[in-house]
Amino acid sequence: MSSPPPSPRSTPRAFDARALRLGVNIDHVATIRNARGGRHPDPLRAAHLSVEGGADGITAHLREDRRHISDDDIARLKRELTRPLNLEMAATDEMLAIALRHLPHACCIVPERREERTTEGGLDVVGGGERLARIVTRLRDAHIRVSLFVEPDEETVAASAAIGADIVELHTGRYCELALEEDAAGVRAELARIASAAAAADRLGVEVHAGHGLTYNTVAAVARIPEIVELNIGHFLIGEAIFGGLVGAVSRMRQLMDYARPPRPLHRDRATTANDVEP
Ligand code: PXP
Repeated sequence: MSSPPPSPRSTPRAFDARALRLGVNIDHVATIRNARGGRHPDPLRAAHLSVEGGADGITAHLREDRRHISDDDIARLKRELTRPLNLEMAATDEMLAIALRHLPHACCIVPERREERTTEGGLDVVGGGERLARIVTRLRDAHIRVSLFVEPDEETVAASAAIGADIVELHTGRYCELALEEDAAGVRAELARIASAAAAADRLGVEVHAGHGLTYNTVAAVARIPEIVELNIGHFLIGEAIFGGLVGAVSRMRQLMDYARPPRPLHRDRATTANDVEP
């Protein structure tokens, strides 16, 4: 039997300034669980509470060393989640087989090194060669949306489009580090780099996401970049949840995103104020 035709790149062609989705990364709930073994705290419960707080989707990274999320977590998330699951994974045959078994809504391919504490840089798409292109094709053939986690760099964005990625997720880690160092000039330059990579991706018909290191203080400037339609945020939210609960942390983040990028009505003819209509 022949396999189904690959899905067309399912991105909206022009960016949609109305929508900015929040994906909550629940890896670090599993980090805490694994510190003691057992089942508590449960990442699936965190996923449900994130949705209650306003998450549009859930992200989980199944690392090769299984240091946080487990295979069983992915199976349970896929079975029980009411929102799209974005599976973060390295570009390996093992992870490809797992993705094809569970068929998540999307896969975000990330670079992975065992000694790193978190995903430290973007994917080397230009040097990624045949193997990366083959994995992108296999995922897309299974109708899984494919995202590549990349540095905000136009050449890398163009290479991602060339191998058929539906989405690029722009790495905001450098921007967040510069913000922590209170390096105003550095922040401006890095935001400009993110904005031009986002515009380049949009021109190529590639959907734009962003994430890594985002906090209440750093989210607004990224949310204001109009081509970006999804932010993926994890560590900060799980940390904040310790103090005030996960539903509150997620809904506060959602509020800040909506304040930076107010949701708009879907159709011009339903616009209620002059500000609701694009010039
Ligand atoms: N996006 C990607 C591709 C990531 O690898 C991570 C970290 O797992 C995030 C977003 C979220 O980053 P943070 O946990 O720093 O919010």
